[in-house]
Amino acid sequence: MKEEISRVKEELEEKLKKVSTLKDLNNLRVEYLGKKGKVTLLLKKLRDIPPDERPVFGKLINDLKLWTQEKLEEYFEIVRKRVQEEKFKSERVDITLPGRAPDLGAYHPVHTTMAEIIDVFVRMGFEVAEGPDIEDDYHNFQALNIPPEHPARDMQDTFYVDRENFLLRTHTSPVQIRTMEKQRPPIHIIAPGKVYRRDADLTHTPMFHQVEGLLVDVDVTFADLKGTLTMFAREIFGPETRVRFRPSFFPFTEPSVEMDIQCVICGGKGCRVCKYTGWLEILGAGMVDPEVFKYVDIDPDKYTGFAFGMGVERIAMLKYGIDDIRLLFENNLRFLSQFR
Ligand code: DAH
Repeated sequence: MKEEISRVKEELEEKLKKVSTLKDLNNLRVEYLGKKGKVTLLLKKLRDIPPDERPVFGKLINDLKLWTQEKLEEYFEIVRKRVQEEKFKSERVDITLPGRAPDLGAYHPVHTTMAEIIDVFVRMGFEVAEGPDIEDDYHNFQALNIPPEHPARDMQDTFYVDRENFLLRTHTSPVQIRTMEKQRPPIHIIAPGKVYRRDADLTHTPMFHQVEGLLVDVDVTFADLKGTLTMFAREIFGPETRVRFRPSFFPFTEPSVEMDIQCVICGGKGCRVCKYTGWLEILGAGMVDPEVFKYVDIDPDKYTGFAFGMGVERIAMLKYGIDDIRLLFENNLRFLSQFR
């Protein structure tokens, strides 16, 4: 019996040394202290021992049981620590590794150009106005002095939404009408937005952006128009930019002009981009036609005004030296990421 007790003890000591996981340890606990465990069986065997020897063996086996419990607890701590250390080691992060740079987005060049144009005019005191993309014939044409059979309607080949009345606006000029319908002078607004024409080639897309401007007050003259737009051109294209005004025609302005800037590519010497003229057209403008004032009930004897309209894509192309408008709509990342 004595031998058996020390054998169980020695054997357990050996096994404990080899334990590597908490599960192993638990198995040992069952193997020794469980219902059919080796220590438990020894206790049961006490019954077969003569009564006078029982106290001695009883104590020996009880000591073994206590010792087993203590050892298991001791090893439990050891194994727990070891397992934890291994876990820490395997999960260790190498903080010296270089980080992964997040991909940065970029504003679209049309957006950036639009924002710059708006900013220039807002700094001069203009306010931003808006109108609907789906317009009616009256605001897009008629009130702008473009009657039903007027040839200017061809020029702006129109997307109609229904048979005759509703259409996708062909320019931002209807915002002039909508503003004057609900506001009395002094008026000083710009109207940025999308416009639509049945067009598609190297220089035209079915949707593009314009910024419209309108200023109405007493004593507004053509000199105000020239000063405002010259200032605008120099803010966008640089302080040395030269401009010129050429007579033109628009049904809603009289007189009408187109403004050119000296070619940003060749500096005026003449090149492919300016078609060897040295100049680039960037906007249309003029003094508000008294006919238009009649539609919105503003007295043309009391008030005068000027208006202008420009294509944002065209200005973006000139600013960034882009030679095909379709690049602005294809959303090719290799193109767009150059504007970061
Ligand atoms: N609406 C004209 C167009 O789309 C541009 C324009 C010209 C607007 C002269 C104006 C203006 O306000 O006065 O071609």
